[in-house]
Amino acid sequence: MKIAIIGVGNLGYSIALGILNQSQFNYEQLYLTKRNTSSLSALQKLSKVAILSDNKKAITDSDIILITVQPNQLQNVLEEIKTVLDSEKHTVISCVTGRKIAEIEQVLGNEIGIIRSMPNTAIAVGQSMTCLSANKKGIKKINIAKTIFGALGTTMCIDEKLMQSATVICASGIAFWMRLIRATAQGAVQLGFEAKKAQELAMYTCLGSASLLVESGNHPEQEIDKVTTPSGCTISGLNEMEQQGLSAALIKGLVTSFEKINKI
Ligand SMILES: NC(=O)c1ccc[n+]([C@@H]2O[C@H](COP(=O)([O-])OP(=O)(O)OC[C@H]3O[C@@H](n4cnc5c(N)ncnc54)[C@H](OP(=O)(O)O)[C@@H]3O)[C@@H](O)[C@H]2O)c1
Repeated sequence: MKIAIIGVGNLGYSIALGILNQSQFNYEQLYLTKRNTSSLSALQKLSKVAILSDNKKAITDSDIILITVQPNQLQNVLEEIKTVLDSEKHTVISCVTGRKIAEIEQVLGNEIGIIRSMPNTAIAVGQSMTCLSANKKGIKKINIAKTIFGALGTTMCIDEKLMQSATVICASGIAFWMRLIRATAQGAVQLGFEAKKAQELAMYTCLGSASLLVESGNHPEQEIDKVTTPSGCTISGLNEMEQQGLSAALIKGLVTSFEKINKI
């Protein structure tokens, strides 16, 4: 498999590192493109990696094309590359936020396999929750996208009509979880910890909580039951949080984000 990443900025670079660091990932050649390639010089010496500013050249010799440019740069890139795309050979994986498969098909046609992906910024540490959708032809190649993004976290195939919801839960979700971690750290400072230790306590407790669910497959309430003694301190704190609107505020925030994203 020969892969081209078109527009290697923050996201493209993280994906490239994920591919390069995954020893069982079997690729023949990785092409990395951007107009000014100086920021990619560190990768230049690696074997099976080619750094180019010529998108068409990179695509001509590849099978899998990942596009990681900004939304306002997508149209130009699609117009530029459409003449060298071959529907038998190429699959296009777009990582561009908010751009629908139908919009990409409008330029490239529906004969080409198109996969739309929505990773989050945790891709930089190999922990992205990445949602994937595809057109009819792209579905046949979805396992390739699962392998690429699986090397950088977890993947889920979803109906494209849920992509905006996924953007709120997973991409904006990073900000929501950060705020919950920050609030816990603020509470820890009030209870006597200095700020750095407070953040450490908050983030590792968050990581441990998520890991418990991932490993056990349990519902969150099952894990809550394990730490709530009748009449104890945990249930007292939890009930106070709920009376102050914790779950309601979170859900309302998610719905507000969703309403906003649909207006953008
Ligand atoms: N960062 C994330 O974690 C994340 C998560 C989910 C989705 N996304 C989406 O991923 C996309 C990229 O985000 P980003 O943060 O990586 O942006 P970025 O850092 O600005 O990267 C985009 C890159 O594209 C290159 N580029 C622009 N036009 C080009 C062209 N015609 N040919 C080749 N290269 C071109 C730019 O480099 P030159 O100017 O040198 O060409 C730039 O380095 C966005 O659509 C974003 O919404 C990002």
